[in-house]
This record gives sequence, structure tokens and C-alpha cells, in this order.
Amino acid sequence: TQQRITVIRGDGIGPDIIDATTKILDKVGCDFAYDYADAGLVALEKHGELLPQETLDLIAKNKIALKGPLTTPVGEGFTSINVSLRKQFKLYANLRPVMSFKGTKARYEDIDIITVRENTQGMYSGLGQTVSEDGNEAEAMSKITREGAEKIVTFAYEMARREGRKKVTAVHKANILKSTSGLFLKVAREVGERYPDIESAEMIVDNTCMQLVMNPHQFDVIVTTNLFGDIISDLCAGLVGGLGMAPGANIGEDCAIFEAVHGSAPDIAGKNLANPTSVILAAVQMLEYLNMGDKAEKVRSALKDVIESGDRTTRDLGGQDGTTEFTQAVLDRLN
Ligand code: NAI
Ligand code: MG
Repeated sequence: TQQRITVIRGDGIGPDIIDATTKILDKVGCDFAYDYADAGLVALEKHGELLPQETLDLIAKNKIALKGPLTTPVGEGFTSINVSLRKQFKLYANLRPVMSFKGTKARYEDIDIITVRENTQGMYSGLGQTVSEDGNEAEAMSKITREGAEKIVTFAYEMARREGRKKVTAVHKANILKSTSGLFLKVAREVGERYPDIESAEMIVDNTCMQLVMNPHQFDVIVTTNLFGDIISDLCAGLVGGLGMAPGANIGEDCAIFEAVHGSAPDIAGKNLANPTSVILAAVQMLEYLNMGDKAEKVRSALKDVIESGDRTTRDLGGQDGTTEFTQAVLDRLN
């Protein structure tokens, strides 16, 4: 039966980069049926809410979604749509790979790092958020459970084994955040012992940031808690040419949402400047998840060929192409 995919085009640069991606999926012969749904500012304008029930129903029905970035209005009591989606569908693992392509302005070549970010707990659990009446005191709760930590660390090791990766580094701040990060590290050590075939390492998050900039080749798989994973994955994107190169997969027990790491980029929206590589690579992750590895490889290598040819890249990578011209080059390459 035909695979149905819920597609949320999103805000800002979202529609441009999502449409580029579905064209590429069609071109490579995926034969998906797309069910379009609204979320974000577009949904607020059309349906009066950021995350309409019909969108949630469509994600639940198809179990696979491809999603553009969504603008979360600041303040005004809006909770992040992304955080809501991850919680609602129990998308506990956020997989954020970065890989270098030659011919970009990126600082390094041969980077191949996957951040496995715990996606529902920690500082993003949304628990205990209070601001005092006078507005001068604010609190939030960070929650880590053994079950949650064990699930994410096991996920990272299983993925490492499946993909023939060599090393998993648990990133933490257990020296200061003794209860929460302490529990995460303790569980990470226990899980690591069950995988003698894979090298286990641990590193404090601040040092990790420095090490990633100075000596990124020491990293293979990084597993960490929610907030650290959010920050570190943007840092990793910076190693390979920026946010336009960074995809992310949000994976749960029976549902997965594929997206870019970046936001709606209002500064370049509507100008044909966005690099669609982030969402195209998210679609590659989706194809792998759907066991369509041959198609995933075709898309990845077409993308690589076009970017590495040097003269057909978007501005963020140092080139002159717009979103549409770059996308056309990838489509032509798939011929
Ligand atoms: P952003 O990620 O949208 O942009 C940061 C910088 O990276 C900007 O200079 C932008 O032009 C550039 N950039 C991002 N994606 C690019 C691409 N594909 N090609 C070329 N350049 C690209 O972060 P910002 O500006 O902090 O957030 C804007 C909005 O996005 C906010 O409303 C925020 O809440 C939302 N957001 C949504 C996310 C999601 O839906 N997953 C994730 C992060 C932010
Ligand atoms: Mg982020």
C-alpha cells in the first residue's frame, strides 16, 4: 500500500524548502501520498490555533510527518509547538547528524557526527514553570528519569552498532547538576557496559563545546539531555556550513517527525535564499527510517555531487544560487 506522509509546510522559509524536498522525493520515485496539514503562524491565522486538532489527527494517522520550521510567537503564553509535538507523540529521540560536504565554506572536512538528543525531559519538560507575581523571580523544573535516560542512551548505542559506528560520548554536567545530570551519567555508564564492542566516553558539556570546535574528529555519536543536545547540535551544524546543512529526526515508539534543526529564518523568508539541504537531508533520514535505503543514498549522493561541484550552492554556503536554482540542480542530477 502507498505510504502516506503528513506534510507541514510551516512558516517563513518552510514552504520553499518543503516543496523543494517533496519534488526531490517524487523525482527519485518514492510514490508517497502527501496529506498537507497546518501548524504554526499559518494555522493561527487560518484556524485560530497554532496546532489544530486535525493536524494532530493526521500525524497520528500516518505516523510519519515531514515538517517545516514553525514560528512560535514569543511571550503571550504560547508554548512551543515543537515541544508540544514531541511530548504528544512521545518522540523521545532526536537524531541530528552532521556531515561535511567539500566545496562549502565549512571549517572542517570529514566531519561525521550524530547528536542523539533526549527529546522530552530535562529543562524542556515544561514542568514547574512559574514567575512570581512581581515578575522578579522565575523557576522551572528539570526532570530526568531512569527510564528516559536508559531509553535514549540505549537508542544511541543500538544506532551506533547498526551503523557500524565506533564510539558513543555521553555529554553531561554531573559535576554541578548532581541530581539530574548525575542520574543521566550514571545510567549512561551502566548502558555503555552492555556494549563492549563500542567505545564509551563521557565529557562535561562546556568542555565538549570547546573540543567540538578545536578537535571535532574525536566525536562519533554524542548522546545527551535535551537542552545540551539542542545547543550542541547547532554547534555541530556550524562545523559543516551552518544550519542550512542540519537535519533532525524526532523518533518515538511508533511515530516519527522529520524536520530541519533550524527555525523559520524570518530574515531570509520569501527571498529565494534558503538552503533546502536541511530538509532534504531530513527526508533522507525519513527514507532510511522507512527502510528505503537505496533511495536515501540516491538523494544523498545527488545532493553531495551538486554541493561539491562548488558552483551550484546557496548563499549560506558561499554560492550564488537561490533555493529554486539549487533544487533544480539536484533534480537534474537525479536524472
Ligand atoms: P533560525 O534557525 O530561523 O535562523 C538562524 C539563522 O540561520 C538566520 O540567520 C537564518 O537566516 C539562518 N538559516 C536558518 N535556516 C537556514 C537555511 N535553510 N538556509 C540558509 N540560512 C538559514 O533561528 P531564529 O531566527 O532564532 O528563529 C526564528 C523562528 O524560528 C523563531 O520563531 C523560533 O521560535 C523558530 N524556530 C523553530 C524551530 C522549529 O520549528 N524546529 C527551531 C528553531 C527556531
Ligand atoms: Mg534548536
